[in-house]
Amino acid sequence: MKELQERIVQDGKVLSASVLKVDAFLNHQVDPQLTMKIGQRFAELFAGEKITKVVTIEASGIHFAMATSFALGVPFIYAKKKKAVTLTEEVYSAPVHSFTRQETYQISVSRQYLSKEDRVLIVDDFLATGAALVGLTNIIKDAGAHLVGVGAVIEKSFQEGRGLLEQAGVRIESLARIESMSPEGIHFIQEEPA
Ligand code: G4P
Ligand code: NA
Ligand code: NA
Repeated sequence: MKELQERIVQDGKVLSASVLKVDAFLNHQVDPQLTMKIGQRFAELFAGEKITKVVTIEASGIHFAMATSFALGVPFIYAKKKKAVTLTEEVYSAPVHSFTRQETYQISVSRQYLSKEDRVLIVDDFLATGAALVGLTNIIKDAGAHLVGVGAVIEKSFQEGRGLLEQAGVRIESLARIESMSPEGIHFIQEEPA
């Protein structure tokens, strides 16, 4: 998505070879027009898939899930994160290991809101190591729902997330794919012309 790539170049800050700060427009201060266009784009990419629910993880996936589900006319769910393991009958849950924080937390979704009738699109801000997203795919599997695919706003293609999801046969659509980055610049994997 050209507008998104341009915005990343203009307002993003590369903090190191692996961390991109997008606080100015994506995940702290948020540009609502750009967010709605991102949702529209995911809805177009997955049109015809008969999606019934959009699923993300709190916090910074929520507005993208909202924009996408609005465009699709279906509800969205945000998985909750908890430090303590409070396993109950009422939720589907999965452990996620955070490499940056060196800790494991639980993500959970109420059993009330996901079932085997659902066709689910996962949406998130970053596809990085894939730890959080693989956790979400496990929750969807537990629910017996059908995973239509994953929409990532920004993919850091040099990290392992895409490979992990592809191994599991998951369709991935990323709106900006970063091949490499440094404070001197960002290299995107260019989209195929439509
Ligand atoms: P993922 O690839 O499945 O997203 O998982 P990973 O464990 O690699 O990412 C850990 C968290 O760090 C995720 O946020 C992810 O969105 C965020 N993240 C990964 N790379 C970057 C980056 O380069 N810049 C920024 N700003 N964030 C990055 P999260 O745990 O879901 O937390 P939240 O921020 O949504 O609350
Ligand atoms: Na996130
Ligand atoms: Na994040």
